[in-house]
Amino acid sequence: MSVTKRNEADVGYVEIDNPPVNAIGQSVRQGLLDAVRWAEELHLTRVILSGKGRAFAAGADAREFDSAPLEPHLPDVLNAIDESFVPWIAAIDGVALGGGAEIAMACRMRIMSPKSQIGMPEVTLGVIPGAGGTQRLPRLVGLAKALDMISLGKPLNAADALAAKLTHTVEDDPVEEAYMVNTEELGCIVPTWELPAPEHDKELLANARATIAKKSPNQIAPNRAIDVIEAGLSIPFHDALPIERAAFLELKTGEQARALRHIFFAERAAKMPETIKADPVALDHIAVVGGGTMGAGIAYALLNAGLRATILETDEDGVARAQTNVEKVIDASLKRGLISDARAQDHRARFNATTDYTTVGDAMLAIEAAFESMEVKKDVFAKLAMTLPKEAILATNTSYLDINELAATLPDPSRVIGLHFFAPAHIMKLLEIVRGDKTSDAAIATGFALGKALRKIPVLAGVCDGFIGNRILARYREAADTVFMDGSTPWEVDEAMEAFGYAMGPYEAQDLSGLDIAHANRRRQDATRDPNRRYIPIADRMVELGKLGRKTGAGWYRYPGGNGKVDDPIVADLAIEESHLAKRERTDYSGEQITERLVLAMINEAADILDEGIAHNARDIDLVTVFGYGFPRWRGGLMHHADTLSAKAIVARLRELSQEDAVAWKVSPLLERCAERGINLADAAPSK
Ligand code: 3HC
Repeated sequence: MSVTKRNEADVGYVEIDNPPVNAIGQSVRQGLLDAVRWAEELHLTRVILSGKGRAFAAGADAREFDSAPLEPHLPDVLNAIDESFVPWIAAIDGVALGGGAEIAMACRMRIMSPKSQIGMPEVTLGVIPGAGGTQRLPRLVGLAKALDMISLGKPLNAADALAAKLTHTVEDDPVEEAYMVNTEELGCIVPTWELPAPEHDKELLANARATIAKKSPNQIAPNRAIDVIEAGLSIPFHDALPIERAAFLELKTGEQARALRHIFFAERAAKMPETIKADPVALDHIAVVGGGTMGAGIAYALLNAGLRATILETDEDGVARAQTNVEKVIDASLKRGLISDARAQDHRARFNATTDYTTVGDAMLAIEAAFESMEVKKDVFAKLAMTLPKEAILATNTSYLDINELAATLPDPSRVIGLHFFAPAHIMKLLEIVRGDKTSDAAIATGFALGKALRKIPVLAGVCDGFIGNRILARYREAADTVFMDGSTPWEVDEAMEAFGYAMGPYEAQDLSGLDIAHANRRRQDATRDPNRRYIPIADRMVELGKLGRKTGAGWYRYPGGNGKVDDPIVADLAIEESHLAKRERTDYSGEQITERLVLAMINEAADILDEGIAHNARDIDLVTVFGYGFPRWRGGLMHHADTLSAKAIVARLRELSQEDAVAWKVSPLLERCAERGINLADAAPSK
């Protein structure tokens, strides 16, 4: 039973009971409609509607979005509630989102508990409210607030909902409070659909559209939502509903909604493989080696999860630097209102920075975030192995180095794992958990347990140069440098990738992280690089010129006075010089050609990563690219995007490109297989 109902005298109690979050599927819709008729037949004086468990209702069941909608449709159910002579009261204890908020708004009254939230996050799934939300919300909270809530999709907490007049009151026990509401007062409340729509306000609508153009460029749903809200301002409620519904149904089956749904469910499916049965070690006190930006970010993330963190440094200067770095993050969080003073104090009490390894003798996990050098890391691991309990897990945050080589230096290599965080480590959601050849199941279980504690998205990866994310990034940069050397400028490349949906192109992004890191990495790879692979020397020239990015005031761009980026003709000339030296003809690539090359290079590499078993499935690669590397979420991640292009079309184009350079554009065998068999990368099996 997805909806239960009972009455005590003339008061009806209806409860949505569809675990885990009361998503509104067909059985819930039917149950609610039956409850409306039931309450009317019994001539109840009120119905108190609540949700069982942790949610009032999390919205329409998005798993149903791929099929044709089944009756009864939610707008009809909500009209029945809104128009019923029996007044309904929504008693909200938990989240009321999307369709859940729409149900609440169709009720005569809303009462929220302090911990509850109400909101219309439909645009984050690529759709707009489809059950009257675009029409009822403006009637309840006014045009400005409704535009804001619907087009940005951010929910309100109970206090903000009260201030917005979206809830009548905030009470600890909303069901009890709903029972206490005076019957006469309840009878005087005008049904939501009968309320007048707000006045048309050109300026508010233009502002909302401008905000969307800035915050969610390329996304269809937010603009469509504003259009539908606007349409409803000048026509009767019941004429506006079909306009809203038609837009919702059209968007729901569109590419963006499919992609956003894919990522929504992929995020939730990011869990430890079921084959891992071991228990994690106890997470309480965690040692972090190195107090630079990464180490401090990791330490702060640990503190924020309620854990104890000790940063180990090599000398007192390092200790002071670690303390300053962690304090900076605490301070920034305080300033942004993310933590209270009391919480900041609590964080400080659980933090320590020291050179003394014996202080972490009880830590069951250490995360090394020291300098990216195998020798340094081997030293650190030897010290950790001597100090920590012998069952403790030793993790490295290396971005590229061989975890198997590192593990081989210890008597027990099964304790070693990669935990690859992304900077800033306390903000970025991705955590690559890198499994070495000898890594134990307990170490993997610990990685996943840590990911959960830190509320990160954990993705299991195998050992290779760059694991999943940085290996794809290397190909992305290589393809960018190649089009740059062969005809474009960094700003043309950045512009093309921004138009594709990245917040920032590869050159601006590299200016932020610094060109020296990739340079050191290239020197490490010199000995093993395929001599037949074309090498683009421009980035090396940049480093020789001291153009390391923002930190030196100039990189691919100049940053006069530390301000915004300015194109640098000297950089453009470097490519002209280098291509002249290499006797290459330059081509004037269009934005589409640039994007195609960079994206295909990434897809081809990602297919190899999947084929080699470095990633376990295409979905994990989607998570890595979206949450670690800024691939547009609304494209569903790299592999989902590849499937929208089709393996067949990708292979055909890669074959054409391989005429130019057979090594760089060598088609991945996995793509070949997918193309031959007509299957998606999402369904492809690795050969290893
Ligand atoms: N449809 C289907 N399944 C849903 C769902 C939904 N709307 N919301 C959550 N779930 C599922 C999750 O997939 C997960 O399933 P799993 O256990 O099999 O992995 C389970 O419910 C629990 O979800 P979370 O792990 O996310 O649980 P949390 O407690 O961390 O978060 C939440 C709960 C805040 C409700 C979060 O799940 C969420 O934000 N859900 C989506 C809310 C949303 O976008 N609603 C709008 C839907 S569109 C709509 O309503 C259209 C309407 O206007 C007609």
